[in-house]
This record gives sequence, C-alpha cells and structure tokens, in this order.
Amino acid sequence: MNQAAVSWHSYSDAQLADMVQNGRVHSRIYTDQAIFELELERIFSRIWIYIGHESEVPNDGDYQMRDIGRTPVLLVRGNDHKVRVLVNRCRHRGAQVVETESGNVPSFRCWYHGWTYDTSGALINLTGAEAYGKDFKIEEMGLSPVPRVASYRGFVFASLATDGEPLETFLGRAATMIDLLVDASPTSEIFADGGTHKTEYNGNWKLIGMDGYHPHYTHASVIAAMHRKPEAGIGATHREDPFVDTARTRTRDFGHGHAMLDFRDHRIHQYEMNAAFIRKISGGEAYVDAMHQAHGEQAPLLISLAGDPHLGLFPNMQLINNQIRIITPLAANRTRVTMTAVRLGGVSAEINATRLRQHESFYGPAGAGSPDDAEIFERVQLGMQAEVNPWLEISRGMERERVDDDGSIVGLISDEVPQRGMMRYWSALMNSAA
Ligand code: FES
Ligand SMILES: [Fe+2]
Repeated sequence: MNQAAVSWHSYSDAQLADMVQNGRVHSRIYTDQAIFELELERIFSRIWIYIGHESEVPNDGDYQMRDIGRTPVLLVRGNDHKVRVLVNRCRHRGAQVVETESGNVPSFRCWYHGWTYDTSGALINLTGAEAYGKDFKIEEMGLSPVPRVASYRGFVFASLATDGEPLETFLGRAATMIDLLVDASPTSEIFADGGTHKTEYNGNWKLIGMDGYHPHYTHASVIAAMHRKPEAGIGATHREDPFVDTARTRTRDFGHGHAMLDFRDHRIHQYEMNAAFIRKISGGEAYVDAMHQAHGEQAPLLISLAGDPHLGLFPNMQLINNQIRIITPLAANRTRVTMTAVRLGGVSAEINATRLRQHESFYGPAGAGSPDDAEIFERVQLGMQAEVNPWLEISRGMERERVDDDGSIVGLISDEVPQRGMMRYWSALMNSAA
C-alpha cells in the first residue's frame, strides 16, 4: 500500500481492503483510532457479541454489567426468570441505571431523578408523573432491549443490528467446539462462577488470538516446567510437547473469524495418562465412570480435553483452559480481558478446586503465563508505532495449510492459520458499508 495515499482518519473501502493482504496485514489496523471507531461501527455494532453465560445470573434480579463496543448493557434475569440483555441507559436523560459490575436487585432505580425499572426492564415508577402529558406512555419507556439476543448452551449473545444472520449460522462449526467445554461435565452443566479477574493492556484487541507459535518463546519457563513434569494437571498431561510441528496438535480456522488451537488428537492419544491423573483426585474415579455413562464413546476425548477447546470466537469470546474470556476493546491501544473461571456440574469439589488452581497458576495476576502475554502485546503495540516497513507477517504455514473434511482450514500448531482466518473475516466486515 502506498502510505502517501492514505489520509489520516479517513479510509476508503479500497484502502481498508488493501490493509489485509495474502499473508500480511498493515500495522495501522492495530494502531489507528479512526480504524478502531470503524470497527465499533462495522463489527461490534453489527455481528453477534458474546455477553455472558446464563449461570452468571442464576436468580431473579441477578445482573452483570457488560458492553457491546461502547454500548453499556446488562445481562439480567428478570422477575419472570427470563434472561434479557438490556441497554444500561435510563430512558429519561441517559444515565446508566447500574454502576456496579454485578449484583442482585429488586429493581433498577436511576440515581439522577429516581425513575425505577423492574428487572424485566419495565418502567414501574415515574417520579412526579403528574407533570407528564397524556402522550407520555409509561409502558413504552422501559429499558431498551438489545435488538437481537440468542443463546447456545447457556452462552448468551446479542447484536445491536436488527437484521443479520442467525446465531447458529454465525457460530457454524465452532458451535460444536463450545460443546467440548459444556460436555466436560457428566451432567453437561457449567457454572461461570469460579471467580473473575481482569487484565487491561496497552495494546489492540486483535492481538490476543490463538497463537500456537509463541509458547516456546513467550512462555519458555512454563514449557521447561512441563518437560520436567509432564503430569502437570487435569487436561495438562503432556508426554509429548504439544507446541512442536511434529505433534498431533493443529491450528484450525472455522470461518467467521472463529479459530482454535486443536488439541483433540494430541490429548486423546494421551488419554490413559489424562484419565490416570484425574483418577488420583478425590471423586476422580466417579467422574471417569460418570463421563462414560453420560457421553459414551465421546468420553475419552472429553476427559482428555478437560473442557479446553482453546477456541477463539470472533470477536470477543475465548474458551481457554478452564475459563470463559471476554475481550473488550477500549481504544486502538487499550484492551480489557475479563477471565471467568468455570466450575463443572456433577463433579467433586476437589476436581473443581484442582481446575481452579491450575487456572490461577497460568492465567492469574501472579500466574506464570498470562502476564507474559500482556507484556508481549504491549511490546507489539509499541513496535507497531514504527511505520517503516509497516507490514505484519502472518504467512507462516500458508503453503502447507489445507481444507479439512469438515470444511475448516487446518494447519500445523505453529502455523498462522488462526491469524489469517480472523483477519480475512475482519476485512470482509470492514469493507462492507451496508
Ligand atoms: S436520567 Fe434517569 S431519572 Fe433522570
Ligand atoms: Fe500466551
């Protein structure tokens, strides 16, 4: 791309299209605030965005504060037990009606002038009602529902666009990867209540992706520990290194920007070791039996994978290890990552506790892994300020990737198949002004 042809803060569709090429992307898509604003409009205001899991609002009146781009929303279970996604904006003069991250309330009372909404969103107390004319219809002044809401196995998604493809089409083949987490429970129940922690890093939201190339370098100390002790935990037993291209691990692009680091063949190959590890935990024998009863021939895979599809669902959800992760774009150079640990239904407290300890050890604020990732993203963001040779190389494995039987594109673990898949969809969304 001829840089001189790009005017700051304004890009034509052709210029945007030019920024994602075969095997390379222009760094400005990560650094330019004008492109970030376009992303909010063309991606976050249009497609399905992950909001939260139904288990985060188990009781009537439970809510969680979430965002769709810059639109503040509430995931709330109403007094009719129905889960809704409502815009967190008072219908009077626009104040947020909720300012705490989560809680349980009988109603939402706006602090500004006291308008009160019930937990299904209806306006139930209009202060000084006599001052409003006969055309003021209280029943039309409830909290606005987000135009489209749909869920898949308890995962609630919403879209600010009134029209668009159904959630099922959007998820496509990636939906069955969500199953790999839910069905790690013998009762097929997960509870997103294992605790939440957050990281904010000074870097772009698109940097955090499914990268099977970096562990040996960014997480060298963790890989070294894994080699010293291959029985590292539930679903983390590795007789063989998963991050070498001779391993059975793969990268996979499902379309719609959804991608995964596919550990299935690698883990099932080590089933005996995985099953032996979990059997040693209190309740482990019962778990293995219950899994076989509930899931039949799928059980060895589900036990080995331990609920870790390692899936990136474009644009804002990731299912990694024992967590549901929400990526929130704050600015071109600022991103929030919200990590909520999951508890499996139908398993012993010891199994869930072990899973949680493993989560903390890699992903926690003082963990051995995640803080390194955040540090790397900040270094990338700083490096990308240079516009001398501004292209990022994402061509790794392009010559050896292939289309698999299920239609997904598959590559070896270090191949940049996920990065290409994500940017291909990004480009398609950004270049359609419709
Ligand atoms: S802005 Fe909410 S009551 Fe006035
Ligand atoms: Fe990492």
